[in-house]
Amino acid sequence: MIRRGRALPWEKQYETVAKASEGRVIRASDSSNASKMGTRVTRPSDKKLFREKLRRAVLSATKAKCIPTFQLVLNGHSAIQVAMGNKFRLGVLGSGKGSNFVAIAIACAMGKIPAEVGIVLSDDESAGILTRASERKIAAHFIPPGKFRTKLDEDAERAFVGALQMLQLDLIVLAGFMRVLKGEFLRAFEGRIVNIHPSLLPSFPGLEAWKQALDHGVKLTGCTVHFVDAGVDSGAIIGQQSVPVLDNDTPEILHHRIQGAEHELYPKCIAAIARGEISVAGRRVIRKIS
Ligand code: GRF
Repeated sequence: MIRRGRALPWEKQYETVAKASEGRVIRASDSSNASKMGTRVTRPSDKKLFREKLRRAVLSATKAKCIPTFQLVLNGHSAIQVAMGNKFRLGVLGSGKGSNFVAIAIACAMGKIPAEVGIVLSDDESAGILTRASERKIAAHFIPPGKFRTKLDEDAERAFVGALQMLQLDLIVLAGFMRVLKGEFLRAFEGRIVNIHPSLLPSFPGLEAWKQALDHGVKLTGCTVHFVDAGVDSGAIIGQQSVPVLDNDTPEILHHRIQGAEHELYPKCIAAIARGEISVAGRRVIRKIS
């Protein structure tokens, strides 16, 4: 939760956190172990205490030459981290051609997402996403996934988590990553992993969702951006965009149309998270437009 770098003046940090936390609960952390050191203070009734705890967190982190970060917490559910003083950083994981990664990277470069991609990782050495990242001078690595077909084995999981943790990323973005993430991975980035799925969830979770939709005969499908939990495509929904199913559609044509919607929706959702506009209450993701 603590990121190395130059801290903003205390007053500026207080002002930013106070603004972002309006009406919510804040966990102010002055250690890399947020759950141990985290302090939960309710606003606005606890305003004085909130200010004091925040001041102490900022001062102690500044002494340790760290930038303190704060987590918005709503109804006990961790939402997102509001990082002070440096850019919001994304780690992207993918197994395929990387068209969603490209849309995200372009949106970052154009300033539409106030963030940068810190690294791209793949479980497939020949995945196009690695080439697309290298072309953009973004660090891109293949990590062998191990002996299983649909999940990472223990060593691979450790390697993925280690590589991502080293960069102190704010958000892990799954963009066509074809492995189910399990315990250690989910715990390492709790509430900070998002995915895009090519259907209007909860309809058609799992593989080839566009084909499932076509076979079922629905007239409307689309794509969903959601937080990742221990289930398959079951986490809290951040955003959805609908796409019509046309009479002459083949699975390929429909998938192509859905991908067009993905390239619009995913950058918008990531931008909202990076701007600190998103919080989570149970299954409901609430967007505060600033
Ligand atoms: C997308 O259709 C996404 O919905 C699914 O995997 C595909 C990835 O495509 N999870 P790309 O590699 O981003 O082009």
